[in-house]
Parts: sequence; structure tokens; C-alpha cells
Amino acid sequence: MSRKLPASYEARHLPVPEIEKAGADLGLVCIKTRIDDDVQPLRHPCDKQNYEEQNIIVDSSGGAALLRGADLFAPGIVTCTETFVGDIASIWCDSSNDPQSRSGKGKSKFILKGARFPIDESFRSQLVFLGLGKVLIPRSDIFCENPVKTGVAVQMYRPVFDCPPISNHFLESCSSEAMLQNYASVKICETFARNLKHGAESTNQELLDMCAAPGGKTTYLLNRLPNEKWYAADKPSRVELLRKNTAKIETPLEIISGDSTKLDFEDGKFDGILLDAPCSATGSRPKPVNVHISERQISSYQKLQRKLIAEAVRVLKPGGVLCYSTCSVRVEENEENANHIVSKYGLQLVEQNSFNPFSAKKTLVKGINRIEVEGDLIEDTIGYYCALLRKAE
Ligand SMILES: C[S@@+](CC[C@H](N)C(=O)[O-])C[C@H]1O[C@@H](n2cnc3c(N)ncnc32)[C@H](O)[C@@H]1O
Repeated sequence: MSRKLPASYEARHLPVPEIEKAGADLGLVCIKTRIDDDVQPLRHPCDKQNYEEQNIIVDSSGGAALLRGADLFAPGIVTCTETFVGDIASIWCDSSNDPQSRSGKGKSKFILKGARFPIDESFRSQLVFLGLGKVLIPRSDIFCENPVKTGVAVQMYRPVFDCPPISNHFLESCSSEAMLQNYASVKICETFARNLKHGAESTNQELLDMCAAPGGKTTYLLNRLPNEKWYAADKPSRVELLRKNTAKIETPLEIISGDSTKLDFEDGKFDGILLDAPCSATGSRPKPVNVHISERQISSYQKLQRKLIAEAVRVLKPGGVLCYSTCSVRVEENEENANHIVSKYGLQLVEQNSFNPFSAKKTLVKGINRIEVEGDLIEDTIGYYCALLRKAE
């Protein structure tokens, strides 16, 4: 990490951040994120523009990716001024343009693809400034008959919120040594691992990661518990990624491509199951403010989560453990589901861990929620929930 980080900071305004050792026994390193208080937009997209001032607008998921250190990819651009290669542009996020709820009822008003500048005044308050970037793909190649569909369109040069760049290139360069993941993932994996049988008791246990792609937790667990018999499942569209990310680990792993609500395993096969369920991701951060998740979406996540739970309970051995986790901060996807597992299937709740960054002290910096977490840096993570449950013998 300390060898590779400097190269990815060559194109950035701030110096390379310090790397701190943390959780020494877990082999973790932490990098503090920083706010650049001095960076200013050239001009607001709703103000009358002039030819030299470039503005680019992204949707809320693109905005969240930029806040987490990514560069801007061509498909993420909602609209932009007449940009040319090499221009420095102000990057803005339309915080009401949430790809997850665009087609939902009561959807909010958002800036349309390819909209011309200046942007209508009614959008002013929902535009969040994310920093300055250097244009690599011009507007004429994005809004045309055969638009460029892949590649970095804007290289972030001066982001407001400086998170270590997580470009594909950077991740690839680290992939033989490490896998980037949230600390919450480590907490979840450790809760699972701690509650499995250990030492002499552990005899090639059959363990399943039910929703495994892209493989962050699977890779951690394969390294942590190499003597067990591991299975990992995900949807067909996601297993290739899972295969790629777990390929360099020597621990044998059987990958299952399919729907984990209908697994092709006999009842009671597994000693332990990790169900890291698909969820609203309301705990993920940093992100631009105002992302709206409807009650309808939350209840449809809960429905899918309960289908996966039913299947997990079916294939779990009596006496086995189920670790149910999400990166949501919503009670419907977390505690309500743990209660459901206890009341409907009679499993015993052994422990629960969670962190809700949005209940911690918050400050707004240039429209971005910055959370002041008191205490250890290592506890400053995304929101997550994890329940460990045991099936009766
Ligand atoms: C929160 S992500 C898992 C992240 C992963 N555990 C990690 O740590 O890298 C949820 C996963 O559930 C998968 N998923 C959603 N519905 C599924 C289903 N019916 N069967 C199998 N996997 C499913 C998604 O494809 C997604 O990869």
C-alpha cells in the first residue's frame, strides 16, 4: 500500500496521506480521509456560463463513487458543458437523481440526461459540489449518436473529500497482496468466525457464503479459516467477479452460480452460513445528502431477505450458526429480520453488532455529510448490522 499509493496521488492536489497501522492482529491499515476546505467551483451550473467555465453533473450513485475516491466514468455523466480534453471542470452531484428510485412513485425531480446549461434555477439547492477534475473524454464523444460507453471521462484532480483513489488500476495493482474492503466487513467476518467450532473441534466444517460477490468477505474468511470446506454462491451475473477475486487464494472453494433462495443442497448440510444480504445500502458512506429510499423499496428488500433467510435456515445443520448481515441502518432490514429468524424458526440470538454513522455527530461540509466519530479511527466505518444466531440441536 505504501509503495503504490504515491503513484495514484500524482494526479491529485493533496499530498499522499499517511498510512496508519490498525488492528495489528488482523493485519489492517487505515488511511484518514481529508476535506479540502479551499477548493471552489468555477461557477454554479444554474448561473449563466461562459465558454471557459466547465461544469459536469453526475447522479447520486456516481457522486457517492467519487466521494469514495473513484474517478468519473463516462456512463456516470448526466450532463456537461461543451468540454474538451484537458479542460478543468467543476464536478457536481444532482443529489435528487438516485438511479435506484428514478422509476418509483413520488420520485423527485432531477436533471435530465444531456440537459443544456445553465441548469434551471429550481435545481440549485440539490446540486452538491464535489471538486475539480480534468476532462479526458469530451462532451462531443458522450452526447452523440455512438457515445463512448466505457473508460474514465474525468480524472479527479482536486476532490472536496479526499479518499484514497480506488480506480480499477489501483485495485488491480493491489489485488495480489490485499483486497480493499470496509472495516465493517472485517467485524462481520470476525463475528462469524469467532462463533464457529475451533481447534480440535473443527473437522473440515462445511461453510457457505450465500451472497458472496464481489467476494470481499469470502476472501477474508478463506484466509482466516483455510482448513474448512468452503462454498460461495451468488447470481450468475456476479459469479465471474467472485471467481476472479477469489482465484489467487489457495484455500479450495466451490462456487455456486444461481439463486440462493433455491439452493440445490440437502436440508441441514452446513455447519455455518454467512448471509450478507442484498440491502438498501443505507449505511454506505460517504455520500451526497438527500438520497431517498422509499418504504416500498425497503419492504421489497425485506421480502427478498426473508426468502434468503428461509433457505439459509433450511440448509443449516442443527447446532450450526447463521451470521445475518447488511450494510443498512434500517431496522426493517436488521433487527426486524433477526426477530423474524428467532420467532419463526426458533433460532437463538447469540449476539448482535452494529454501527450507525448517521446517529453520530454530523457536520455538513459543502453539502456533504461528514461524520465526526469519537474514539478510535478504526471504529469510523460504514453503517452495518450483524446478528449471529444458532439453530437448536
Ligand atoms: C451485499 S452484497 C454481498 C457482498 C459480499 N458478501 C462481499 O462482502 O463482497 C449482496 C449480494 O447478494 C447477491 N444476491 C442478490 N440476490 C441474490 C439471490 N437471489 N441469490 C444469490 N445472490 C443474490 C447480489 O448479487 C450481491 O452480490
